[in-house]
Amino acid sequence: MQYEGIDNIKTEIENYLITDAETLEQFRIQYLGTKNVLKDLFTAIKDIPNENKKEYGQKINAVKQLAEEKFALLQLQFQNNKADKKHFVDTTLPVAIKNQGAKHPITLIREELVTIFSKIGYLVAEGPEIETDWYNFTALGIPEDHPAKDMQDTFYIQTNPDIVLRTHTSNVQIRVMENQNPPIRIIAPGRTYRNETISARAHCVFHQIELLYIDEGVSMADLKQTLLYLAQELFGTETQIRLRPSYFPFTEPSAELDVSCFICGGSGCAVCKYTGWVEIGGAGMVDPLVLENCKIDSEKYTGFAFGMGLERMAMLKYRINDIRLMSENDFRFLKQFENS
Ligand code: PHE
Repeated sequence: MQYEGIDNIKTEIENYLITDAETLEQFRIQYLGTKNVLKDLFTAIKDIPNENKKEYGQKINAVKQLAEEKFALLQLQFQNNKADKKHFVDTTLPVAIKNQGAKHPITLIREELVTIFSKIGYLVAEGPEIETDWYNFTALGIPEDHPAKDMQDTFYIQTNPDIVLRTHTSNVQIRVMENQNPPIRIIAPGRTYRNETISARAHCVFHQIELLYIDEGVSMADLKQTLLYLAQELFGTETQIRLRPSYFPFTEPSAELDVSCFICGGSGCAVCKYTGWVEIGGAGMVDPLVLENCKIDSEKYTGFAFGMGLERMAMLKYRINDIRLMSENDFRFLKQFENS
């Protein structure tokens, strides 16, 4: 109770509007005069339990000091401005804190991933969102009749079957390999598009990051170690990983990456659907045909690639249950990430 009283007086002092000699004098009488309002608070010390006396005393002293400082400063200012009362400015008044912008959860995840991989020598690469069939599909070994190319999944630009909105960030792999000689070590975050029905779990606009490492002698062991590093940087040193065999046209062998559940530690919970594992992305050794498509000698060089969805990561990390929130820009949603 008493603490609340102190806080109220503190706010009163901060906001006390002093515009002339008269209001300055009223302020002095009220907070620093012989019968000032702080006196009651000082008298109340005797009723405060011993263990709280110190804290209580410090609080009132701080408020008293605030009043003294405000008075001293304004007295000085007021003296200096005597000739020009109209333009007197009370510089001790608190300013209205404007609403500060907040980083979007996707931005937070992207920045975190870029930092994690820059520590082990990866550079950020970018590619276009409007892409040709070659970079998005063909160079990656995705054949003409692949279901991913179906009109259902891919957005085509003005019915031109050669120009698509990229369906993944793997197009950046091809663009980088075409232009750079190994060793190549890049991370490519970006926006991707698929003609999906929008629901709580799926959206037609989303984000991925792609990882690509090409050099002499890169093996599956390097891939596994890199993914373990990623998992432990993201979710803590206790985190374990598991690779499950999978299929992607541009990697061989291919795998899905699971991490031990960072909520329950593997014992089973709603987030991991009681399996102890959470899937976070796809990976594999770059198919030699893909290297050859980019004029990289597949006898000399090998490499790995990894891709993951940023919305999914953000949803897991911040426990967001509806992907649509990510693109609706509802201020009440965005505000929650202010201090993340
Ligand atoms: N491009 C794949 C996808 O969108 C993910 C992936 C990237 C898989 C790199 C393997 C290697 O599903």
